[in-house]
Amino acid sequence: MNLLYFSFFFSLVVISGSAAPYRLSISKIFNVNDYGAVSDGRTDNAKAFQNAWEDACAWDGLRPKVLIPKGKFLVGPLVFKGPCKGREMVVQVKGYVLSQADLNAYKTHDWISFRYINGLLVTGKGLFDGQGAHAWPLNNCLHRRRCKPLPWSLNFSFVSNATIRGITSINSKNVHIQIFASNNINLHSIKLMAPENSPNTDGIHVGESKNISISQSIISTGDDCISIGPGTANLSISGVRCGPGHGISIGSLGGGKDEGDVVGISVRNCTFSDTENGVRIKTWQESPTFSSAYDLVFEELVMNNVDNPIVIDQKYCPHNLCGSKAPSLVKISNVKFRNITGETRTKNAINLVCSDRLPCEDIELSNIDLKYSVAGDFAVASCVNVKGRSFGLMIPPSCI
Ligand SMILES: *[C@@H]1O[C@H](CO)[C@@H](O)[C@H](O)[C@H]1NC(C)=O
Ligand SMILES: *[C@@H]1O[C@H](CO)[C@@H](O)[C@H](O)[C@H]1NC(C)=O
Ligand SMILES: *[C@@H]1O[C@H](CO)[C@@H](O)[C@H](O)[C@H]1NC(C)=O
Ligand SMILES: *[C@@H]1O[C@H](CO)[C@@H](O)[C@H](O)[C@H]1NC(C)=O
Ligand SMILES: *[C@@H]1O[C@H](CO)[C@@H](O)[C@H](O)[C@H]1NC(C)=O
Ligand SMILES: *[C@@H]1O[C@H](CO)[C@@H](O)[C@H](O)[C@H]1NC(C)=O
Repeated sequence: MNLLYFSFFFSLVVISGSAAPYRLSISKIFNVNDYGAVSDGRTDNAKAFQNAWEDACAWDGLRPKVLIPKGKFLVGPLVFKGPCKGREMVVQVKGYVLSQADLNAYKTHDWISFRYINGLLVTGKGLFDGQGAHAWPLNNCLHRRRCKPLPWSLNFSFVSNATIRGITSINSKNVHIQIFASNNINLHSIKLMAPENSPNTDGIHVGESKNISISQSIISTGDDCISIGPGTANLSISGVRCGPGHGISIGSLGGGKDEGDVVGISVRNCTFSDTENGVRIKTWQESPTFSSAYDLVFEELVMNNVDNPIVIDQKYCPHNLCGSKAPSLVKISNVKFRNITGETRTKNAINLVCSDRLPCEDIELSNIDLKYSVAGDFAVASCVNVKGRSFGLMIPPSCI
C-alpha cells in the first residue's frame, strides 16, 4: 500500500469514526420535489429549484446532488450560483424542464445560469425545452447589431472543472449553451436541437475560455453548430455531428475593442450534413483594434451536401452593418485544413478571403476531396491574400 493511499484510507476511518461525520459523506440528494416543485408543466418552479440548489451548494460534502426527477417542470429564469462548499456539485436531470414562455419574466439574457462554480457535473437523460417557438418571431437581432437579445438557454460562466454530459436541449429561444470565462470544461454526448429556420439558435457558443472539449454530440439547429468567440484557447471538438445549421465557426472576430486572441482550436472527426457552411473563420471587415487567430486544425471532416465546406471570410459584413470598408485587423495564421471529403452544393468549395492589410499566413490545404453536386461540373477553390502551401490529393485544385 503506498503512502498516499494509506493516508487517504486512514483519514477516512478517522473522520467517519468521529462524532461529526460531515466531511467525507459521499453524496447527498436535494430533490426539487422536496422543495415544493410541482411537475404539472404549468406551475413556475423557479423558487423550488433555487432553494434546492442553495441547500446543496451550502452542504459541505463531496458530491451534493440536485435532482430533477421525472415529470414536467416549468421554471422561470434561474441562477445556480457558487462558490459551493462541496467538492463537485451535481445536477441530475431526469425530467422535462420547460422554460417560461413569458419574456417579461427574464431580467437577464439567459434562462438557466451557472456561475462561479469550481467542480460541476450536469448530467441525466432529461431535457431542457426553451419553448422557442413563441419567441422566435420576436427576434429583432437578425438585421441589427444593437437589439434586445432573446434569452439563451444554459449559460456557464466563471465555471471550472465541469462535465456536461448526456443532456438534451431543444428549441432554445436563442443560443442553447454558452461557455463564458470558464476553464476545464468537458461537454460530451449531448444533443441540441432546434428547427433549421429558427433564428440564432446556435448550439454552443464558447468565449473567453480555456481548455474546453466538446465530443460525441449531435447538434442540429438554425444557426452555428458551434461558434467560437474571442479569448478562446485550447478548445478541442471531435465526433460532433452537425446539421442542419450553419456549421462550425470561429468568429465573428474583430467586432469589439481589445479582443483576446483565439489560439489552439482543433475540429476533428466531425460530420456536416445539409449545413450552410462546414468550417469557417470569419472576421468583421472593420475592426477597432488588432487581434489574432492561430494554431487552428480542421481535419478528418465529412461534408454531406454542404453549401460552403471551407471558408475564411475576413470581409464579413452581413446586412451592410459595417461603418466602413477598412480591412480586418485580425491576423490569421497557422491553419491546417486536412483530410476533408464529401460534396459541396456550391461550386466554390474552398473560399479563402483574407485581410488586405494582414494576409493569412501559413495556411495548409491537404488531402481534400470535395465533389460538386452538379453532375458534369467541378468544384473550384479561390484565394485572396493567402500565403501557405498545399499537398496530397487536392480536389478542387488548390488556389494557394
Ligand atoms: C452569462 O452570464 C454572465 C454573467 O456571469 C453574463 O455576463 C452574460 O451576459 C450571460 N450571457 C447571456 C447570453 O446571458
Ligand atoms: C480546477 O481548475 C483550476 C483551473 O481553472 C485548477 O487550477 C484547479 O486545480 C482545478 N481544481 C480541481 C479540484 O481540479
Ligand atoms: C483540461 O481539461 C480536462 C477536462 O476536460 C482536464 O482533465 C485537464 O486536466 C485540463 N488541463 C489542464 C492543463 O488544466
Ligand atoms: C488542452 O485540451 C486538451 C483536451 O481537452 C487537454 O488534454 C490538455 O490538457 C489541454 N492543455 C492545456 C494546456 O490546458
Ligand atoms: C469519430 O466520431 C464518431 C462519432 O461521430 C465516433 O463514433 C468515432 O469513434 C470517432 N472516431 C475517432 C477515430 O475518434
Ligand atoms: C489523411 O489522409 C491521408 C491520405 O489519404 C492519410 O494517409 C492519413 O492517414 C489521413 N490522416 C488521418 C489523421 O487520418
